[in-house]
Amino acid sequence: MATLQAIKYSRGKLQVLDQLRLPHEHHYDEITTSEEAFDCIRSMRVRGAPAIAIVAALAHAAELHNGSCTTNTPEETIAHIDSRLDYLKQSRPTAVDLSNAISLLKVAVRAAEIDGLEHPEAKEAILNAYIETAEDILARDLENNTAIGAFGAGWLQQQHNSSPDRKISVLTHCNTGSLATSGHGTALGVIRTLHSRGLLQHAYCTETRPYNQGSRLTSFELVFEGIPATLITDSMAGSLFAVQGAAMNIGAVIVGADRVVRNGDTANKIGTYSLAVLARHHGIKFVVAAPTTSIDLVTETGAGIEIEERKREELTQISGPVVNADGSVDTSRTARVAIADQTINVWNPAFDVTPNALIDAIVTEKGTVVKGADGKFDFSGVMPERW
Ligand code: MRU
Repeated sequence: MATLQAIKYSRGKLQVLDQLRLPHEHHYDEITTSEEAFDCIRSMRVRGAPAIAIVAALAHAAELHNGSCTTNTPEETIAHIDSRLDYLKQSRPTAVDLSNAISLLKVAVRAAEIDGLEHPEAKEAILNAYIETAEDILARDLENNTAIGAFGAGWLQQQHNSSPDRKISVLTHCNTGSLATSGHGTALGVIRTLHSRGLLQHAYCTETRPYNQGSRLTSFELVFEGIPATLITDSMAGSLFAVQGAAMNIGAVIVGADRVVRNGDTANKIGTYSLAVLARHHGIKFVVAAPTTSIDLVTETGAGIEIEERKREELTQISGPVVNADGSVDTSRTARVAIADQTINVWNPAFDVTPNALIDAIVTEKGTVVKGADGKFDFSGVMPERW
């Protein structure tokens, strides 16, 4: 079966699916420089915490492979790589995967075996160390997501004390699927795994205003995979739980993360916090699915997370291809439509922080972390030493 692929890579060549054109058009941009990667990430043609990190790392790998680095000494080469990575880090601030990937890459180039090597061999060794580490970030992400899917599905099944044929329904927010990662996805990966194991009754996805990652991307992925699913607006979640929660066995809200900090507070797409409050009120489990690359043990609590604020037009205008009178979509014509007074004040934070108290479990590729007897999350069992 064909799979959705946000990122296509072979050494020296990086292509990124333009998610702003989805679901109507499949267009891959070729990314050849870090400037192009920066723009692709900032404009959200690629988005989702793991995918942002992978595109930044691989864009620089491609440009290094293609001869962008004209330095002569190991020190100059490392300084060149550092400065490109520091630049890429500014593209979007909240998701920690990007800074974790950058730290990993900086360590890798410093660990390159260059003792006894002269120019140009020493430089070659440093570039190879960078490129191999960037490629490994891509490969590991896919492995991680498959593992998250298995741990998450297993944990949910246990919670619902279900016989193997008792299914649950879940609600998810934003897009955490193949389009936000190297493949399979995190929260959406758990939904995929539940479905493939015959344990999913129904998936609900929110529209995810203002950028509509849920309606444009998640609903597209769910339809593409043939997973039984229903799209709701963000404001319908409370009614969904109240009206259909019991009848549809809605057992969990499952979301991804842009940054999980030391105490378990989690930054994710704006609207996540409201869903966590609603889930608690309705006795529905609230689960975060995230690879350890999304965990930040340096920041103690959610108060320390920088929340990206985005431009006003995301709330006051909407754009997309024109719908013809017969209902077909004309991708050759794009319309930009005003949906609010264009002078109204706007507050547009892209993420919010869900306090740890509202989170029941954090599913990683190393296992599911729940609070201990002291009511606290402890990530020491799942965090690889390198972070
Ligand atoms: O602004 P976006 O689309 O990059 O926000 C994405 C999210 O909030 C996702 O839930 C998160 O990055 C996890 S993706 C596996």
